[in-house]
Amino acid sequence: MTEAIAPVSAADYLARHEAKGLLRFLTCGSVDDGKSTLIGRLLYDTKLLFEDQLATLASDSRKHGTTGDELDFALLVDGLAAEREQGITIDVAYRFFATERRKFIVADTPGHEQYTRNMATGASNSDVAVILVDARKGILTQTRRHSFIVSLLGLKDVVLAVNKIDLMDYSQSVFDQIVADYRAFAAEFGFRTLVPIPISARHGDNVIARSVHTPWYEGPSLLDHLDTLDVESVAQTRPFRLPVQWVNRPNLNFRGFSGTVASGTVRVGEAVVVAGSGATSRVASIVTADGELPQAGAGQAVTLTLEDEIDASRGDVIAAANARPDVSDQFAAHLIWMHEDSLLPGRPYLMKIGTRTVVMSVTEIKHRVDVNSFQKLAAKTLALNDVAVVNIATHDPIALDPFAEIPQTGAFIVIDRMTNQTVGAGMVDFGLRRATNVHWQALDVSKASRSGLKQQKPAVLWFTGLSGAGKSTIANLVEKRLNALGRHTYLLDGDNVRHGLNKDLGFTDADRVENIRRVAEVARLMVDAGLIVLVSFISPFRAERQMARELLEAGEFIEIFVDTPLAVAEERDVKGLYKRARAGLIQNFTGIDSPYEPPLDPEITIESGALAAEAAAERIFAFLLQNGYLG
Ligand code: ADX
Repeated sequence: MTEAIAPVSAADYLARHEAKGLLRFLTCGSVDDGKSTLIGRLLYDTKLLFEDQLATLASDSRKHGTTGDELDFALLVDGLAAEREQGITIDVAYRFFATERRKFIVADTPGHEQYTRNMATGASNSDVAVILVDARKGILTQTRRHSFIVSLLGLKDVVLAVNKIDLMDYSQSVFDQIVADYRAFAAEFGFRTLVPIPISARHGDNVIARSVHTPWYEGPSLLDHLDTLDVESVAQTRPFRLPVQWVNRPNLNFRGFSGTVASGTVRVGEAVVVAGSGATSRVASIVTADGELPQAGAGQAVTLTLEDEIDASRGDVIAAANARPDVSDQFAAHLIWMHEDSLLPGRPYLMKIGTRTVVMSVTEIKHRVDVNSFQKLAAKTLALNDVAVVNIATHDPIALDPFAEIPQTGAFIVIDRMTNQTVGAGMVDFGLRRATNVHWQALDVSKASRSGLKQQKPAVLWFTGLSGAGKSTIANLVEKRLNALGRHTYLLDGDNVRHGLNKDLGFTDADRVENIRRVAEVARLMVDAGLIVLVSFISPFRAERQMARELLEAGEFIEIFVDTPLAVAEERDVKGLYKRARAGLIQNFTGIDSPYEPPLDPEITIESGALAAEAAAERIFAFLLQNGYLG
């Protein structure tokens, strides 16, 4: 059934396997469950290529432009490159082998608890999950965790490989018990197929061929099962989606929308819609590297031309007109957090879905999921490896599909705006329409007319720095000066706002994010009212200061870094808080056991350790005068 292929040239390999279908699977299990042995056994018994040939294979297939196989392998290599670009270190080894029917790519992921994100990466590129269980140990926490993630990532076909069955004397009752245990908790995952197989990776029982040692087992060997399982038809039957990668416009007579078909099939003459604008047209032609085709399906790189001149750009989704994606700026999702720095609700992150990247924030953590007991737990933030159900709001409306319906357009990654690292992966549950009946009300009196009356240019003077740095003292002097000149101002001070609007907030990272979000929104309203607003908040995080800046128009946000060394602020200790923080009586104190991220490019820096408050206020006043804020 298998064929022996000497590891000859990549071109030969491709030529021989060109016409075969591809099945990608993932192996998961705990550290000693025998994953490596199983993969080694599959590779050895099918006598195929080992990892070091992979690089040659990929580069050869590009160089020689061999048809057929090129796409599959390029896809894999591209996938890895994209992750590398994001700065994520993913420890997933991919290996290849083939039978007469199929080519296989195995994703091998480390089994340690920490590596949920590696597992998630492997799973998101796979059709089938092979979950290994040690026959001596039965179902473990890890088995449950891996199964949960596998289901979360939309894998519908699962093999339960009960390994080391030789060490349990090939016992049917041991096997049956493990299968029963597994079925009991996996029922809710809704796997399409769940095939339990007793194996010994070490001795090869039921791996390639049925074993004489398990006469009671009547199912297929692992390889037979993987060889015959039907996974190809699924992606083709879903609704058509083409995330536009770029608009191809070589001359005035040709405009094509290029990208890789994410799901479904598209035919010439079919009605399509640009999801965001709702503009419809029909497909005039489908251009590919192989010339014009009458139709194309999931996984193919295409350029579509349309019958009508309609607009679409990178990030848009062209979809079947009769099965449109949701377009929404709010949606519910499952989120897997992958970074040591916690997710903070309200903090702006980037999210990449298809070819689109938008600013988003988590508006609510509904609950965290304990991946061992599947219990719902309350949570204010998400830590590394946490899985949660959340609501997300995006800056702009985006096209999205529930992950359960179209995984390719329902999955997204979350990127930190400061470091550009991938920090989370998510699955869209459904779009939320809650806010669509709230519209922005146009008012006749504008910001310009309000500030015109006051003869000033409204702005926010945003003072940031450690507690005791001198922010409020300086802000107070600036306001006095402006007020004496008949300017219209308001000073929002951290301590004061925390007595009212923000009295429900403490000093955890999550609460500080919300503290700044609220005061930034208030400052924006006051700028709209035509005021010069002074904000005096520690505001320790760059991300939220940037958020505040982006709420305002260019030139309206003046960041003033009151740069007082910790030692100086602590020495002053006007409120006695540093002493108490050092004594452990106050937790999360900025500079002591909570971080302060200094501005990288503030409009004004005040070295307040060296500069007297009056002189500092004078400098700020001069800045306002010189830059036309005072008319
Ligand atoms: S912020 O970090 O969320 O911007 P904010 O400016 O509102 O802080 O409040 C800081 C003020 O709260 C400080 O000036 C200090 O008087 C008081 N305070 C009480 N506990 C803390 C703490 N743990 N960390 C910092 N400031 C604290």
